[in-house]
Amino acid sequence: MQYDIITIFPEILDSYFNESILKRAQKAKKITIKTHDLRKYAKGRHKQVDDTPYGGGPGMVLMVEPIYKALKKIKKKKKSKIILLDPAGRQFSQKLAQNYTKLDQLIFICGRYEGIDARVDKLVNEKVSIGPYVLSGGELASAVIIESVARLLPGVLGKFESTQYETFSGKKADVIEYPQYTRPEIFNKWQVPKILLSGNHQEIDKWRKSQKK
Ligand code: 6GU
Repeated sequence: MQYDIITIFPEILDSYFNESILKRAQKAKKITIKTHDLRKYAKGRHKQVDDTPYGGGPGMVLMVEPIYKALKKIKKKKKSKIILLDPAGRQFSQKLAQNYTKLDQLIFICGRYEGIDARVDKLVNEKVSIGPYVLSGGELASAVIIESVARLLPGVLGKFESTQYETFSGKKADVIEYPQYTRPEIFNKWQVPKILLSGNHQEIDKWRKSQKK
C-alpha cells in the first residue's frame, strides 16, 4: 500500500516514518510512504503557500493552487483515495482503518488549522478528523491514520503482535486487558503476582480472564 502526504513539514513526518514498525514495513516493501513538500508547488520567489482570507478576518488560508499542482504530480493507483485532514471531518476509527486496508493508496492533504481554501473540497474524496480536539495541522493526524492502517496489513507486524491483534475490531474484548509483568520479580517491594511464576498455564489463563475489566 502506498501513502502520499502533502505537507509544509515533510521533514517532521519523514523522521517519524523512518523508525520502528513503519521503517521495517517500508524496507520489506509492504508499504511505501512519500512526503511531498507543498512549497515545491508554490509560485514566486517566496514560495508562498498561504494568503490572507477574502472578506477579511484573522490568520492565513492555504491556497488551492499549490495543492492542486501537488495532487496532479502524484501518480494515482487504481484504488486510491484523497483525504483532507480536517478537525471538522468524519471521525476516524478502527473500522475506517480496516476499510482503508482494501485500497492501494491513500493521499493525504495536511490542512492548517487557520484555514484552507474551500475549493480544496472539490479535489478530495473525504475529510477526516482523528478526534474531537484541535491540532494546528494535519501532520500528526496523517501519521496516526497511516500507522493504524499499515499495522493491519499482512506482514507488517511481527508474529506475536499479529496473532494478538489480527481480529482487533475496536471492541474492548479484543485488546489485551490483563496486567502484564516482566523482570524483575520484585521492584520497590512490588511483587509480580505469584500465579504468573507458577508455570500452570490453565491457572494463568483463568487469572488473566479474572483481571479483565
Ligand atoms: Cl485531521 N486536523 C487538525 N488540524 N486537528 C485535528 C484533526 C485534524 N483531527 C483532530 N484534530
